[in-house]
Amino acid sequence: MSNMILCIVIIVAAATVPIGTATRYNLGHPATAGDIKACDISVAPDGAGLPEGSGTALQGRAVYEAQCAICHGARGEGNADYPPLAGGRGTLNTDKAVLTVGSYWPYATTVWDYIHRAMPYRNPGSLTPNEVYSVTAYVLFMNGIVGLRDQVTAKSIPALKMPNRDGFVPDPRPDVK
Ligand code: HEC
Repeated sequence: MSNMILCIVIIVAAATVPIGTATRYNLGHPATAGDIKACDISVAPDGAGLPEGSGTALQGRAVYEAQCAICHGARGEGNADYPPLAGGRGTLNTDKAVLTVGSYWPYATTVWDYIHRAMPYRNPGSLTPNEVYSVTAYVLFMNGIVGLRDQVTAKSIPALKMPNRDGFVPDPRPDVK
């Protein structure tokens, strides 16, 4: 009953706001093409959205050691507080599944996206595209997916077959409302 009254109050209140006389707060500014481009960073599994650039694991090692190893470990082994990035292959169907880029992630492209948007954890978005290519290459190298000197580029990364690519199955349960 009290919900009903609240609902009526909201309807009456909404009806009394004059339409077309939006209050201007003089905050912010209309998004420019540059603002939108800065947010438009999603990379799809097929690589759509990847910027030009490239890097090798050899180049990425320096980025990794300076900006990632403190949390993810010198060899990607992680620690008590931060997740591992390497190893864990063959553990997914055991009681001690270790989820890493090598054991779990189905696409290298979305690893690129994730590192670009979210890492390093305390300074996300700070890496240049080439740094992201090279450090992604290093993470893949630690997992035995690319060689130390392989060029990882916008063109080559979608073609990398991740070890768990075929480990995902469609959820057969029906959608419920
Ligand atoms: C201050 C600690 C810290 C630093 C430094 C850091 N990370 Fe992370 N990283 C995290 C945490 C915490 C997570 C898990 C975040 C979550 O699940 O929301 C994570 C998750 C990840 C993942 C996803 C792991 C998975 O399997 O889900 C990747 C890949 C990754 N980091 C790469 C990097 C790279 C590359 C760098 C360096 C450029 C980096 N991280 C620097 C803390 C850190």
